[in-house]
Amino acid sequence: MNRKHTFAVAVIAGLLISGCSQETKEHAKAAAQSAAKDTAAAVQTAKAKSADALSQAQAKASEAMDQAKKAAAEAVEKAKESAAKMEEAAKAKTAEAVETAKKSAAAMGEAAKAKTAEAAAAVEEKAAEVKKSMANETTAPAADGAALFAKCAGCHGTDGKMKALGKSPVIAGEPADEVAQKLKAYKEGKRNAYGMGGVMQGQAAGLSDSDIAALAEYISKLK
Ligand code: HEC
Repeated sequence: MNRKHTFAVAVIAGLLISGCSQETKEHAKAAAQSAAKDTAAAVQTAKAKSADALSQAQAKASEAMDQAKKAAAEAVEKAKESAAKMEEAAKAKTAEAVETAKKSAAAMGEAAKAKTAEAAAAVEEKAAEVKKSMANETTAPAADGAALFAKCAGCHGTDGKMKALGKSPVIAGEPADEVAQKLKAYKEGKRNAYGMGGVMQGQAAGLSDSDIAALAEYISKLK
């Protein structure tokens, strides 16, 4: 080969080499660009994915919240219902209790009325008895024997154990019916046992039947 050839080869080689390195540079650039693109795409995808995930999570969260809200609302509804039921039951129970109380009050009123009527009847009966005994003076002496005996005590003694004017026997403890009988006889002037019937007639003159009964009762009890 000649110098020309050598030069040409060198030029070509140089060209080739430089061309080749140019190509390599281009290639690397392209690769870098494509890598960058890829990365950007990956980032984009990741972003999209995470946004997706986020929105899904948000959706799920809001769904859960909705469910929770629904459940809470349901629970409140149920609580309201049961409260209403309890109120209803309480009302019913109260009404029942009131009814029972009314009934027992009515029964008690009835019983009280009956008792009052009974008591009134008993009082009337007693009053009638008292009236009867007041009308029948001999069976129920209204006079006070002790008070009446005061005027007899001078001769017969406060305890009825004195022999009146030295003539009358002791009258204390003498049976009431006998005393009454004697006093009536003295009052009517029909008795004169010891010659002093006149004295006793004067004493008995002002005595009523009930006075005589009371005195007789009192004297029979003197001891
Ligand atoms: C002034 C005295 C005197 C006074 C007061 C007097 N008495 Fe007499 N009493 C006599 C004498 C006396 C005799 C007896 C009469 C006779 O002879 O039956 C007698 C008799 C009696 C007898 C009968 C006794 C018997 O068993 O035989 C009785 C009962 C009696 N008196 C009750 C009374 C009463 C009750 C009073 C009061 C309201 C009273 N006397 C007031 C004096 C008195």
